[in-house]
Amino acid sequence: MTLTDTTLGELRELAGRYPQSRSALLPMLHLIQSTEGNVTNEGIEVCADILGISAAEVSGVATFYTMYKRRPMGEHHVGVCTNTLCAVMGGDLIFERLKGHLDVGNDETTEDGKVTLEHIECNAACDFAPVMMVNWEFFDNQTPDSAIEVVDKLRAGEPVQATRGATITSWREAERVLAGFEDGLADEGPAAAGPSLAGLEIAAERGWSAPSVDDAKKASAGDASEAAADSKTGAAEQADTSRAESETKVEESPADTAEEGKDD
Ligand code: FES
Repeated sequence: MTLTDTTLGELRELAGRYPQSRSALLPMLHLIQSTEGNVTNEGIEVCADILGISAAEVSGVATFYTMYKRRPMGEHHVGVCTNTLCAVMGGDLIFERLKGHLDVGNDETTEDGKVTLEHIECNAACDFAPVMMVNWEFFDNQTPDSAIEVVDKLRAGEPVQATRGATITSWREAERVLAGFEDGLADEGPAAAGPSLAGLEIAAERGWSAPSVDDAKKASAGDASEAAADSKTGAAEQADTSRAESETKVEESPADTAEEGKDD
């Protein structure tokens, strides 16, 4: 067994944090990644054993979510968003340039083991497109040159600061934070900035504010009763329409038509 007693203790600690222990599976898999470098077979068996579920159930989760890796990762994970907005704003170009610069394909690690490159889906940072993530910290408004500068610094072991977030540590350390063990860096660096705050600034200038919870509940209750009334009216109107249609059909029954034929 390669998992240490410390890790086993922390896995059990995570399982104990939830009323239903199986809810701890996601953070437990992050913890396995932080110590092993990926989700190993042994890690899967141990999680299953602690949680009292099958290895197949753990494996199903580990292979479903893309943040869980079954192959060893590099020291840093560099994710380039190539979803629609980032792609058209330059994400595709950044990804292509990084592949060439690092001499790797998608989901591959550089020969020195420093960087694993992956194209990733939208990170809900479209207002800063094109976005790159290093160990899940944001690098906003990137260009091919700025992205290359970041990966070069990572490979050289130089300090790198996220544009919104903390100083970059390593993928394994970030995985430990995702498992629920804080590193004390959560408040380092700006968390929100620029375009994300534009709506808030406009609201402040114009004196807009969100309705109180009570007002929102009243409005929502009002909407619900209005909708119910609309639906009753709609049903009544539909019933009238259906009746009118069926009456029309009765009026134009084959018998009537036959009668009409006789007159001709
Ligand atoms: S499309 Fe890239 S962050 Fe949303």
